[in-house]
Amino acid sequence: MCTQFYRRLGRLARMRPGKPWNAHLFDLTMELIMTRLSLSALLLALALGACSKAPDQAQTEAAAPDAQGDSAAGKVLAEAKCASCHGLDGRGSTGDIPHLAGQKAAYMEHAMQEYINGKRAHAALQQLGKELTGKELADIAAYYAGLPRIVPAGAASAAEAASKIQQTAATCTACHGVDGNATMAGYPTLAGQHAPYLLASLQAYKSGTRKDASMAGQVARLDTPAMEALANYYSSQTAQGRGQPTGGDPVAGEPLSGKCGACHGGKGHSSNPDYPNLAGQDYAYLVKAIKAYADGSRDNAVMKSMVAGMKDQDIQHVAAFYAVQPPNADVAAKVMSAKDWADRCDKCHSAKNDNPAMVVPVIEGQQAAYIEYALKAYRDGKREQSAMHAMGMPLTDADISVIADYYANMAPR
Ligand code: HEC
Ligand code: HEC
Ligand code: HEC
Ligand code: HEC
Repeated sequence: MCTQFYRRLGRLARMRPGKPWNAHLFDLTMELIMTRLSLSALLLALALGACSKAPDQAQTEAAAPDAQGDSAAGKVLAEAKCASCHGLDGRGSTGDIPHLAGQKAAYMEHAMQEYINGKRAHAALQQLGKELTGKELADIAAYYAGLPRIVPAGAASAAEAASKIQQTAATCTACHGVDGNATMAGYPTLAGQHAPYLLASLQAYKSGTRKDASMAGQVARLDTPAMEALANYYSSQTAQGRGQPTGGDPVAGEPLSGKCGACHGGKGHSSNPDYPNLAGQDYAYLVKAIKAYADGSRDNAVMKSMVAGMKDQDIQHVAAFYAVQPPNADVAAKVMSAKDWADRCDKCHSAKNDNPAMVVPVIEGQQAAYIEYALKAYRDGKREQSAMHAMGMPLTDADISVIADYYANMAPR
């Protein structure tokens, strides 16, 4: 129900240029939670200051977040009851069992309570949790919390990742020019193009739905994060324009462009990031692309219906019209990269956050499959927890897989 509502809202917000709809929604939700959170932290501080804990309350709330455990006793228990799955070093034995090494003790106790009271569904853990006293649980949590976090094998720093993208972009320069300003006839300019369109094109070359011998070889070695980074990189460059067209008549092309403007914008500056900008694109490339849609060798039903049966002369005129338009001066729309998402997640998940009103787990270096599983569980309402449920709402499966990969490969901070 709720998911459908957000999806529908998302479709409404989709036409906004610049920020993707789900990032927009995420930001609004976070603002709401943060406002409520600072209020509840204030109330908690007042409550703690005003009253002292009754003795029997300490017993029923055995796993209170501030309980101090004995890690030597915890080690003995962990070896007997937890190590078969979570390792004695806190390493999950398979991809879907979370690492516990270096996790916050308060979060582990909180999570176990969620299994015990049925808010998290996992039969074995519900049973295990019920067999432990609050003291034993606090001891085990203290033991695992004291272990060094697991350093992922492929951990790359942000700087390394950025330089890797520049190295990859250098391999595109031969055909697409410096910063995506191509100069050879027939090769498209990438600078200033909408990132969602660039990303969709790269994915289409990779899956084979868009066919081009040069590009097929280029994308074979690119994974999704690399394609996103390249799309964002090129869309943020300034397009220089391509000079005079070698054919066609821009003046004769203007009236022919009338029916194209609905999607590509009046002068080839489209406001929907899924539709490519045409302004300032190479004349020869535009002619080639339009002919490819018309004869079906570039498979797109919408574009085919627009240009099927167009005379060669008209194709040249309309291509010339777009080629001479000044390229888009506005900043093109971006794709939300893993880093863009993580900047938002870190408002709560950064190591610095120790708000007592909300116990937030450490997620860097966690198993990718487990992060993915947990995010989907929050999003789809299978793990009861209001904050992450709301935060997970706008995430698509593709977003989740990219984010999970990002955090899983991040070294402990
Ligand atoms: C049979 C394997 C198994 C054993 C034994 C086991 N766990 Fe787990 N544990 C899991 C799996 C699988 C999950 C993820 C479950 C889920 O949320 O669906 C998990 C999740 C957890 C979590 C939540 C972590 C997080 O990041 O949210 C904690 C805390 C935890 N286990 C603690 C323990 C403790 C303490 C013990 C020993 C008393 C223990 N587990 C024994 C398999 C096991
Ligand atoms: C050997 C030359 C060559 C190299 C190197 C090359 N490309 Fe291309 N690229 C082309 C050609 C030719 C086309 C147009 C193909 C078509 O008609 O579909 C193209 C098209 C594209 C498009 C679609 C643009 C649009 O407007 O639809 C994107 C995106 C792209 N390339 C990105 C890249 C990236 C990123 C790299 C580097 C990793 C790269 N290319 C390297 C030749 C090359
Ligand atoms: C209903 C929306 C719509 C209309 C109207 C439309 N287009 Fe398109 N156009 C698209 C979409 C969507 C794409 C991207 C298709 C793909 O993925 O290959 C596209 C792609 C293109 C491209 C390829 C650009 C590139 O960088 O590779 C050209 C050229 C183009 N259109 C020209 C035209 C012309 C000329 C007209 C008018 C005769 C027109 N379009 C009308 C939606 C439209
Ligand atoms: C408003 C604060 C907040 C924001 C923003 C937030 N989280 Fe969380 N997150 C939490 C809290 C609180 C929990 C613990 C929930 C629970 O008890 O089940 C959590 C739990 C998680 C878990 C489960 C970890 C585990 O060990 O079981 C993952 C994975 C996660 N968040 C990822 C993310 C990602 C990715 C983002 C950004 C897209 C994000 N979070 C944004 C507060 C937040």
